[in-house]
Amino acid sequence: MRLLLCGDVVGRSGRAVLVEHMPRLRRELALDFVVANGENAAHGFGITDKNCEELYACGVDVITTGNHVWDRREIIPYIGGDPRLLRPVNFPPGAPGAGHGLFALADGRKILVINAMARLFMDAIDDPFAAVDRLLGQHPLGAVNAILVDFHGEATSEKMSMGHFCDGRASAVVGTHSHVPTADAQILPKGTAYMTDAGMCGDYDSVIGMQKEAAIARFVRKMPGERLQVADGEAALCAAFIETDERTGLARRIAPLRLGARLQAHWPLGEAATERV
Ligand SMILES: [Fe+2]
Ligand SMILES: [Fe+2]
Repeated sequence: MRLLLCGDVVGRSGRAVLVEHMPRLRRELALDFVVANGENAAHGFGITDKNCEELYACGVDVITTGNHVWDRREIIPYIGGDPRLLRPVNFPPGAPGAGHGLFALADGRKILVINAMARLFMDAIDDPFAAVDRLLGQHPLGAVNAILVDFHGEATSEKMSMGHFCDGRASAVVGTHSHVPTADAQILPKGTAYMTDAGMCGDYDSVIGMQKEAAIARFVRKMPGERLQVADGEAALCAAFIETDERTGLARRIAPLRLGARLQAHWPLGEAATERV
């Protein structure tokens, strides 16, 4: 199975780069399933039902989120009616929506998508390791064809720990939230594909997707200053491409995808991919 996880989609330009390229990517990479993290889709903060519709229409199958999921309040009554929009699974009991979903491809193959959120340098939240462990126990590879974990977090150590914690039990663990792609895509020893962060789909002439002047001023003056505004220049699309083994559900290949403005382009097929032989 061929999967794509797009990192945090930030604002109008982030959505636009997906709309522009996703139909072609689905064809040229022969993608079976596409996940995008949409927590910053609405002007940098949160996501609306309209944003969801736009992402689904261009070829995204499932939208994950993170700490910004509730920034646009109108998503709170919406999320329970949209099983394709996930929020972190380790939110306290009673949170609306779901943190995981079991999805069927047109040919009947099944993929489990888990959206979990880290705790280091983040809001206090329930244990993501226990939550992911429970779900992996309920849905072992074999019972489902592929398992993709979006682990939304700040600390690289916690994300790497989640990767190894899931090694051999998930097809892939890919981080989101930092808005910067990491260069550590690899297949872990027991067969789980891993990348600490997929990076953002957004304007990289910015401070993690926000207009740089106000962001810099916060550090320089150490005062609250003006509200951060989303950067809306031409975006780059950053994602992790994963190919799973049909027999085991484990990973055969993982490679970054980068295209669009500013960042050095990287196409995930070819020799640069990390393959398991
Ligand atoms: Fe984000
Ligand atoms: Fe985040």
